[in-house]
Amino acid sequence: MSRRDIQLDDQGRLRHFLTTEGLPRDLLERILDTAASFTGVIEKSIKTVPLLRGRTVMNLFFEASTRTRTTFELAAKRLSADVLNLDMGSSSAVKGESLLDTLRNLEAMQCDMFVVRHADSGAAHFIAEHVGDDVAVVNAGDGRHAHPTQAMLDMYTIRRHKGDFEPLRVAIVGDILHSRVARSQIHALNGLGAGEVRVVAPRTLLPRDVERLGVHVYHEIEAGLRDVDVVITLRLQRERMQGALLPSEQEYYQLYGISRERLALAAPDAIVMHPGPINRGVEIESAVADGPHSVILNQVTNGIAVRMAVMSMCLEGRGSRAEEDE
Ligand code: CP
Repeated sequence: MSRRDIQLDDQGRLRHFLTTEGLPRDLLERILDTAASFTGVIEKSIKTVPLLRGRTVMNLFFEASTRTRTTFELAAKRLSADVLNLDMGSSSAVKGESLLDTLRNLEAMQCDMFVVRHADSGAAHFIAEHVGDDVAVVNAGDGRHAHPTQAMLDMYTIRRHKGDFEPLRVAIVGDILHSRVARSQIHALNGLGAGEVRVVAPRTLLPRDVERLGVHVYHEIEAGLRDVDVVITLRLQRERMQGALLPSEQEYYQLYGISRERLALAAPDAIVMHPGPINRGVEIESAVADGPHSVILNQVTNGIAVRMAVMSMCLEGRGSRAEEDE
């Protein structure tokens, strides 16, 4: 079964949200439209809606996170769900309990959704294959494979600033090889019809056959940034690097850092994005990260509405587990 099959039901609605790869354009647009309706909600003084009242969401983070975990928690609370944040580093997994046994026990507590971050590629898909039909799984980042809600909040941020995707040139700069965010962004940008998607990186930080993802490859930063409407820069993911792929962070900054001078090569109204956490002076100059073109903190804000959209769409039309067991 393909990853697309497991995450959609017979009517093409979201059952799980595991990857942006292969998702039809109308579904990607519906996520963005639903997020737009929630942005209206969370900008009010009363920021909650009762859509997931009585539902239970468990955040299972096996890997560190600041932005994703907190915005998933806020999103669930804005939807009136009950939320539990499990610190998997202090769970019974450290006493030898298998992942599946942990899941079975959490499911027995009538959970409706697992939000999963894991260091292993494919972990969220594995969990989705093993939970009961009533439980939805949302991938909050698995290894170097996918980070689909990050990609959708990035798409939402781009649409809010730029409107249509079709005329846009987008450059993704940096450690594409180890980046789950870049993969999910590339699938989402192509799915939404972006005019041109570029990746800009040294050969050592690009996957083999990256062109097959539907991107134009640049090794020289000046050429890669020329006339683009959106610059997305990425962190060097040292925790996933094996061997010496880079001479030094200083040299990387000299060759690929986003400085004011380099940004001047992009379109005059270009926006600068970064999924975070940022490393100032390594992939981006502080004056750019904090400057007028930066929408980095808007991305974080938009994460709440986009995660509300994904969570509500995954549970739309399903009875709560507690009701069904009565
Ligand atoms: N962008 C992102 O995934 O950030 P966190 O690791 O802080 O969740």
